[in-house]
Amino acid sequence: PVLVVDFGAQYAQLIARRVREANVYSEIVPHTASVADLLAKDPAAIILSGGPSSVYATGAPFVDPALFEAGVPVLGICYGFQAMAAALGGTVAQTGQREYGGTAVEVTSAGTVLSGSPEQQTVWMSHGDAVHAAPEGFEVLATSSGSPVAAFEDRARRLFGVQWHPEVKHSPLGQKALENFLYEGAGLAPDWNAGNVVAEQVERIRAQVGSARVICGLSGGVDSSVAAALVQKAVGDQLTCVFVDHGLLRSGEAEQVEKDFVASTGVNLVVVDARDRFLRALAGHTDPETKRKIIGREFIRVFEDAAREIVAGSDEDVKFLVQGTLYPDVVESGGGEGAANIKSHHNVGGLPDDLQFELVEPLRTLFKDEVRAVGLELGVPEGIVWRQPFPGPGLGIRIIGEVTAERLDVLRAADVIAREELSKAGLDRDIWQCPVVLLADVRSVGVQGDGRTYGHPIVLRPVSSEDAMTADWTRLPYDVLSVISTRITNEVPEVNRVVLDVTSKPPGTIEWE
Ligand code: XMP
Repeated sequence: PVLVVDFGAQYAQLIARRVREANVYSEIVPHTASVADLLAKDPAAIILSGGPSSVYATGAPFVDPALFEAGVPVLGICYGFQAMAAALGGTVAQTGQREYGGTAVEVTSAGTVLSGSPEQQTVWMSHGDAVHAAPEGFEVLATSSGSPVAAFEDRARRLFGVQWHPEVKHSPLGQKALENFLYEGAGLAPDWNAGNVVAEQVERIRAQVGSARVICGLSGGVDSSVAAALVQKAVGDQLTCVFVDHGLLRSGEAEQVEKDFVASTGVNLVVVDARDRFLRALAGHTDPETKRKIIGREFIRVFEDAAREIVAGSDEDVKFLVQGTLYPDVVESGGGEGAANIKSHHNVGGLPDDLQFELVEPLRTLFKDEVRAVGLELGVPEGIVWRQPFPGPGLGIRIIGEVTAERLDVLRAADVIAREELSKAGLDRDIWQCPVVLLADVRSVGVQGDGRTYGHPIVLRPVSSEDAMTADWTRLPYDVLSVISTRITNEVPEVNRVVLDVTSKPPGTIEWE
């Protein structure tokens, strides 16, 4: 792999993604990894990421000069560039003068990484310190007003560095620079793709599972669906998927899983109709955390019953559980390989840690967009592959107040209209998701036809996000909002008002509960 050494800040994941976009496999490693740790992974190349520190600050992450003696091509970016310069005897000056945002650089010699670059270009900078003198043996490739040495390379030793951030889209030629490093600097071939991932994971799953029985909780979302499709491809009928219909689903969802997913994958599917059970358990509860806990608890019970039933009458056990854990979850929990790092609340709706299954996690090296590519490769229907995130507790946390069958029907009717109109306007892939929320305990006065109404408001919560950790409200076109509002108030009699949530996250979360 190409190893991306993470010096903090937000950039390492982005670099790893950009490397993969160049069809080269990459992994993120913490900066605390020793040179021996890094070399044990047999890296094809190493990229040192940016980070918030100054190389001179006490406790600043340190780069062992031995790293540069290993014969592995290295690219330093921002902090990584300065750390490389400092480790090899260059001069890094604490200027205190920040270069931030779009910055003009002058390319004095294209070298390897800047090959194909114009002499003047704009790049994205974010730094205080600057490299004033390159280490011995390095050629200076570019300068900017705040960075006497803005890029350098030692072609013989295959060591490269740039002060700016080639991984962000605000550096228009950034991807080109990364590809120059990977293809020319490190001599790598762009041969990593969704097809390889499928082949490799199928092998791994077979090796892990052997002839044992496997179950997978299917939510209808992209992660669990793609994970299930991979495992199905690997071990066929040893896998049984369990879909719990808790009655908190949106219109058409259960059918989509039952028909489309089974038709495209041929997976064994058990659908458990647990609608009454969930409604009974939720009756009388309005506190968001209580509702979430009830839904999580009931889910586990239903799921465990289903697992027992799958093997009833045989002497087999279900030994493995498929989880759709993604790479960001792994990285954010420390990047380790151990079970301790696994999020137990992912996808399956809150399975506890002491569950007696071994986990199969075929997506734990992948980013969301890669999961989608793998899904398409496996023939998972596009309607599932491109689905927006939907929370495990479903509409249960989008009814503010007690959850009842009638309120669920009202919310489903409003939600399907919003989704239809957003799709019709071609906005599905522009927005991260658009929760539709029923304020069930709020009523307001309206007028419709000749009569007074006293109905409930529906909240539209369209958000744009990269990863759901932060989000902004999406500026939807007024005419689309207008059609949604008119249709909901006309077609859903209980609703007489549609309001738009214009809060970013933070301070608001995406969901209302
Ligand atoms: P919040 O509301 O925390 O949501 O801003 C962030 C993202 O997570 C989804 N979400 C959940 N997903 N189980 C899930 O599988 C949950 O309990 C859950 N709660 C929130 C939410 O839809 C958004 O994409």
